[in-house]
Amino acid sequence: MNEQQRKQQSQITQVNPTDIKSSSENLKRIKNLSSDDMVSKYFESTYQPPDIKKARKRGREKVNVHYDFDIPEDMANIGEGKKFLIRTYGCQMNEHDTEVMAGILTEMGYESTDNTNEADIILLNTCAIRENAENKVFGEIGHLKPLKLEKPDLILGVCGCMSQQESVVNRILQKHQHVDLIFGTHNIHRLPHLVKEAMFSKANVVEVWSKEGDIIENLPKVRHGKIKAWVNIMYGCDKFCTYCIVPMTRGKERSRRPEDIIQEVRHLAANGYKEITLLGQNVNAYGKDFDDMTYGLGDLMNELHKIDIPRVRFTTSHPRDFDDHLIEVLAQGGNLLDHIHLPVQSGSSHILRKMNRKYTRESYLELVHKIRKAMPNATLTTDIIVGFPNETEEQFEETLSLVEEVGFEAAFTFIYSPREGTPAAAMKDNVPMEVKKERLYRLNELVNKQSAESMKKYKDKVVKVLVEGESKKDPDVLAGYTERNKLVNFKGPKSAIGQIVDVKITDAKTWSLDGIMVENTVEVN
Ligand code: 5AD
Ligand code: SF4
Repeated sequence: MNEQQRKQQSQITQVNPTDIKSSSENLKRIKNLSSDDMVSKYFESTYQPPDIKKARKRGREKVNVHYDFDIPEDMANIGEGKKFLIRTYGCQMNEHDTEVMAGILTEMGYESTDNTNEADIILLNTCAIRENAENKVFGEIGHLKPLKLEKPDLILGVCGCMSQQESVVNRILQKHQHVDLIFGTHNIHRLPHLVKEAMFSKANVVEVWSKEGDIIENLPKVRHGKIKAWVNIMYGCDKFCTYCIVPMTRGKERSRRPEDIIQEVRHLAANGYKEITLLGQNVNAYGKDFDDMTYGLGDLMNELHKIDIPRVRFTTSHPRDFDDHLIEVLAQGGNLLDHIHLPVQSGSSHILRKMNRKYTRESYLELVHKIRKAMPNATLTTDIIVGFPNETEEQFEETLSLVEEVGFEAAFTFIYSPREGTPAAAMKDNVPMEVKKERLYRLNELVNKQSAESMKKYKDKVVKVLVEGESKKDPDVLAGYTERNKLVNFKGPKSAIGQIVDVKITDAKTWSLDGIMVENTVEVN
């Protein structure tokens, strides 16, 4: 998937940077510590930078599940008459964390706004996966400085994956003193306390626990919409792919108890949600950390299959842990959809070994073969990194040939981005950026061609579309996704929004389909 397609499908609300004038006087009043004082103060006390050596050694310490989250009494109404804005970068996990933070702030009396000038709290929920994600956030932190100077009581916070990195925390503390609050991915449930501290303290508040926390179950959520919902099934990742920062920013693998997940899904079904997506960095490792039972993703999907909710998806899969039981369960169909997102990263066994992916080209193809045998109509999509250190032309061509051989219908494609602290970042790299860009271009051309071909097969066919709303480009056109995750734009009545309707496809584009609704398919509730 290229930038154009990403934008087309993006849910991120873009708000114009403010043009309020700066006032250095205000900044001096807000922060009366020197930056060196601040760094040493917080590094001595709360901040423990994540460390890959320690992370790799992390064991099976017991993870406790807490069901007693509560907003402290003195913070319960503190947000009355005030507004919050959370800007989210990165993956669905971050989008879902934003829903939880919105839930907590709402319980504290805050209302949401999408206007930066109106906000009393602005949180940037950040992504660290590639350098350009980080650059965007630093750009935004800079844009917000004049607003903070104008409104010293504004609380400006940085949270999410970037704040789990020592170098980022250092940079913010030293160069962006207008940021009041920095907290990590394991500290979200501490938001009421952190807001309180930021409100009443004159210095920066930093709380980043490098040790991943326990599981906190009953956090409030304000979900984005009433049709589709995300459900976390596990946190963290223990795979340690050599290019990836996530095992450091998200901590070790911790699975939620199945009964808590099942209850959440039942509740969503009872509230009229039509689709859920189970979330985890590596959902196929679900349950491996339970020490009291043998229970995996296949078992969980089997339970969810029985719940009366029309669509159940999951992301993201790791090929290494994708087992036969899961394939067997998915092959039952029903609400388990035959779209599988299976990141391959590279088609070269040599590069896969350097990436520490723990599978080969051959074993990946074998897995694809098994999936296709059990689910002949399954759509497969993937993630691919080009330009990993020292990737040769031949190795890149192996990726192209694998894309063709599997017949991926879509792919998220990336140029390798070195992440400080990961093993790959220490590798010497002889591939010039120009070559990496050219490889990305060639890969995207192939992926686009395959996407367009897969779309053509739908011409004149009737597909089931879960209607999500109006198309961003034309409010008279409705938009939604098929079971196999194809975007469909079609003319139909507004009453179809939130329903699964039959749409006859009239035109196939590269990344989407156009159609007309087949009459009488909207249920009357
Ligand atoms: N550089 C480029 N892409 C990366 N990804 C993860 N880390 C990096 C990196 N350092 C990609 C992988 C992963 C997706 C979420 O992001 O393809 O599957
Ligand atoms: Fe990163 Fe995914 Fe590998 Fe985990 S499995 S280290 S999240 S790429």
